[in-house]
Amino acid sequence: MDAKHLGDELSVVLHTEAELHARLAELAREIEADYADEPPLLVGVLKGAVMVMADLARELRFHAQMDWMAVSSYGAGTKSSGVVKILKDLDSDITDRDVLIVEDIIDSGLTLHWLKENLESRGARSVRICTMLRKPDAMKVDLEVAYNGFDIPVDFVVGYGLDYAEDYRNLRDVAILAPHVYGGEG
Ligand code: IMP
Ligand code: MG
Repeated sequence: MDAKHLGDELSVVLHTEAELHARLAELAREIEADYADEPPLLVGVLKGAVMVMADLARELRFHAQMDWMAVSSYGAGTKSSGVVKILKDLDSDITDRDVLIVEDIIDSGLTLHWLKENLESRGARSVRICTMLRKPDAMKVDLEVAYNGFDIPVDFVVGYGLDYAEDYRNLRDVAILAPHVYGGEG
């Protein structure tokens, strides 16, 4: 669905589907150059990363093997605590492999900080991060992000895989959710 199908539920569209795809194509060219010797294993973080993974993997001009993890952050409410539980682990052995984590959004960075260390501890040759979106002003840890689509403000956004209460993942664009939807101000 598109923003126009959602009436007043969104306050502003930050990035259209076309912008997201164009930026992913640029990132794909960088990734191809950086991994010219051997393609990385793409590791998507469920569920938010499904759209980025689907579009990035098809954009890449080399074999792109995909694996998936599902993690949940312990702690209160919507805020990430940095303590992570694995709900679904990788199917692949990543010993001596170059791993590229594919994410929808980095907010505090705590989840990916934990995940990167976890994958490194399994003997991966390298672990890098590719994210469609990043909220630089929300980041709580120093996290190196090799491939970043767009920096966005510290607002709650939905679409392109990102949900609010499991809805909005199938919105094509990335948009700021109108505060009245989640009982906020405005
Ligand atoms: P972090 O550990 O704080 O970086 O949490 C990142 C995770 O929180 C993402 O993978 C999303 O699942 C979720 N998240 C963070 N910000 C948003 C948002 O604006 N909309 C929807 N989900 C978000
Ligand atoms: Mg996510």
